[in-house]
Amino acid sequence: MTNLNMEKLEALAGKIVGDASAALSILLSYIGDQSGVFRAMADGDRRTAEDIAEIAQVDPRYLQEMLSANAANGYVSYDASSKQFYLSPEQAAIFADESSLANMHGLLQIIVAQFSEHDTALDVFKSGKGRPWGDQHVCQFCGTDRFFRPGYEANLIENWIPALNGVKEKLEAGGTIADIGCGHGSSSVLMAKTFPNSQVYGYDLHGPSIVDARAKAADAGVNNIQFEEVGANDISADDGFDFACIFDALHDMGDPVGVARHIREGLKPGGTLMVVEPMAGDKVEDNLHPLGGVFYAASTLICLPTSRSQDVALCLGAQAGPERLTQVLKDAGFSSVRIATTTPTNIVFEATTANL
Ligand SMILES: C[S@@+](CC[C@H](N)C(=O)[O-])C[C@H]1O[C@@H](n2cnc3c(N)ncnc32)[C@H](O)[C@@H]1O
Repeated sequence: MTNLNMEKLEALAGKIVGDASAALSILLSYIGDQSGVFRAMADGDRRTAEDIAEIAQVDPRYLQEMLSANAANGYVSYDASSKQFYLSPEQAAIFADESSLANMHGLLQIIVAQFSEHDTALDVFKSGKGRPWGDQHVCQFCGTDRFFRPGYEANLIENWIPALNGVKEKLEAGGTIADIGCGHGSSSVLMAKTFPNSQVYGYDLHGPSIVDARAKAADAGVNNIQFEEVGANDISADDGFDFACIFDALHDMGDPVGVARHIREGLKPGGTLMVVEPMAGDKVEDNLHPLGGVFYAASTLICLPTSRSQDVALCLGAQAGPERLTQVLKDAGFSSVRIATTTPTNIVFEATTANL
């Protein structure tokens, strides 16, 4: 402990106090979400903790403390003159509006799921053994759907599919779509609703997610959709697919090259594979920013152990980057691989084969 630079030490310690405050506020925000406190504050009106507690039917003293913690961290606002709490429009978009692209509760739910299973995470981390997706805490599955769904609703139909050569026209006329690693099926249902002449097939290894996906399709009243619990390597494409897509799941798979090859073989002539992956640069130093930190952390706890639990266990990771992902798709036999479009959080690849 010699040669300590006290200024740097204090700056790092100060950062950790801020991070600790944020970590605890995230847990409190999760409680605020699940208990209905944020819903009670959605209108942005100023109220005392007692009044909010009355609406949300929670204990007022605990709520006073919880709101004070979240106000200290900037997650809610406090008017000292009236002793009232409220959500600003921006805080409401993030914490109280389920339809908002800015809503963060899915991410918070994923974080809470990870903290709740820290013993397992430690064991997996030290031993290097795999951890199947289905062994994650139940909050992981709905958190993932909640986290990704707003991005798909904002981009899939408006931006991503139109960025692919000829796919939108084909699906409007009527084609077959495979959504592989579909999770709770939000992307599948969105495509089934948008392209009523097309038939959508959603596939996932995780049975409870498929049950949820079927319920979601029934709620949406779409009939042109089927879900199957099956590993991506075992999907049977009897008549072939016009369009296959993988949303934030290829890097989780043990054998992404084998899966992409299997999909290529299941595409109809002229068919397209779209792969949506987290935004990343090719080198570690490209990804050393807060978003990269979130993806690397999720990758350590979730994506790598999922891949490690499957055959081949390639462990691509959530920050593989365009060069590596392009190589995976080329190794699978796709002759043309290009980045069709990007968002701040995603890269969208189009993979086709000229001689298909
Ligand atoms: C991060 S989640 C993404 C789910 C969904 N696509 C979404 O965007 O909400 C990854 C999904 O890939 C699925 N998965 C992982 N490996 C798989 C495999 N080999 N075959 C099929 N699905 C797999 C998991 O069960 C999980 O539902």
